Amino acid sequence: MTDTNTIKHIASPLARQTLQDKDLTAPVAGVKPIRLLPWLQVVKIGGRSIMDRGAEAILPIVDELRALLPEHRLLILTGAGIRARHLYSVGLDLGLPVGSLSPLAASEAGQNGHILASLLAPEGVSYVEHPTIANQLAIHLAATRAVVGSAFPPYHHHEFSSARIPHHRADTGAFLLADALGAAGLTIVEDVDGVYTADPRGASAASAQLLPDVSAAELAKTEGTLPFDRALLEVMANARHIEKVQVINGLVPGRLTAALRGEHVGTLIRTGASAA
Ligand SMILES: Nc1ncnc2c1ncn2[C@@H]1O[C@H](COP(=O)(O)OP(=O)(O)O)[C@@H](O)[C@H]1O
Ligand SMILES: [Mg+2]
Repeated sequence: MTDTNTIKHIASPLARQTLQDKDLTAPVAGVKPIRLLPWLQVVKIGGRSIMDRGAEAILPIVDELRALLPEHRLLILTGAGIRARHLYSVGLDLGLPVGSLSPLAASEAGQNGHILASLLAPEGVSYVEHPTIANQLAIHLAATRAVVGSAFPPYHHHEFSSARIPHHRADTGAFLLADALGAAGLTIVEDVDGVYTADPRGASAASAQLLPDVSAAELAKTEGTLPFDRALLEVMANARHIEKVQVINGLVPGRLTAALRGEHVGTLIRTGASAA
């Protein structure tokens, strides 16, 4: 005989409704998520703008990062550069799908991370893979002041097929991580002073003006080139924690240090996240 009185019913507010209806899910899902690592500073180092320049650009950044360690706990994420662009051209020529190109480009972002981590190894800094960032970042950052990882998001064959070149690249990956972790900030390190109205190294360089403070929504309305992947603007629109990101020139000594101290030394991009 079954004693029905011992059956435990689990009350769950989402159990009986579609997850499509925002009015029904909002009371449960509309709560602001907690910040997992509120003291973390995320720094994204450009592949083409910094790493591809070699010792001349990398060593001063390494010195600056080293000096910042007593002050900040860092997740340093590297992007892909010229080698990924070569991979794209070879892969596209062969007709490879976007989901095959994505991990190839990601492998270069990882290589750049390994290079940076090797240079910071005497300070106890190591390269960690995505599963470690996902599951064990807190314990790593309890043992050391910084770790290096790949900024490229691991979409692989899940990459959206809207374009032949991966839509979600290093800037998007860095932002998604920083926002998901509830980090204190994200700084994007480039080789230009910030975001301009046009490419400051391109054909319209003479008329290009630096935008000191701009919203992601305003940038989304523009059609020109940007020093980061456009998908970054899409994820910024739905940000939960990171209210602003600063794009800075890593070739100018002291800019990264100033940015991490909260100084305005590049372009501040305002996201869709609210302070409340
Ligand atoms: N609107 C813009 N503002 C600033 N830089 C831009 C803009 N459009 C294009 N760029 C160019 O983007 C370059 C950085 O290239 P990018 O592919 O972002 O490098 P990385 O791989 O290091 O992120 C800058 O050196 C600059 O010439
Ligand atoms: Mg860039």
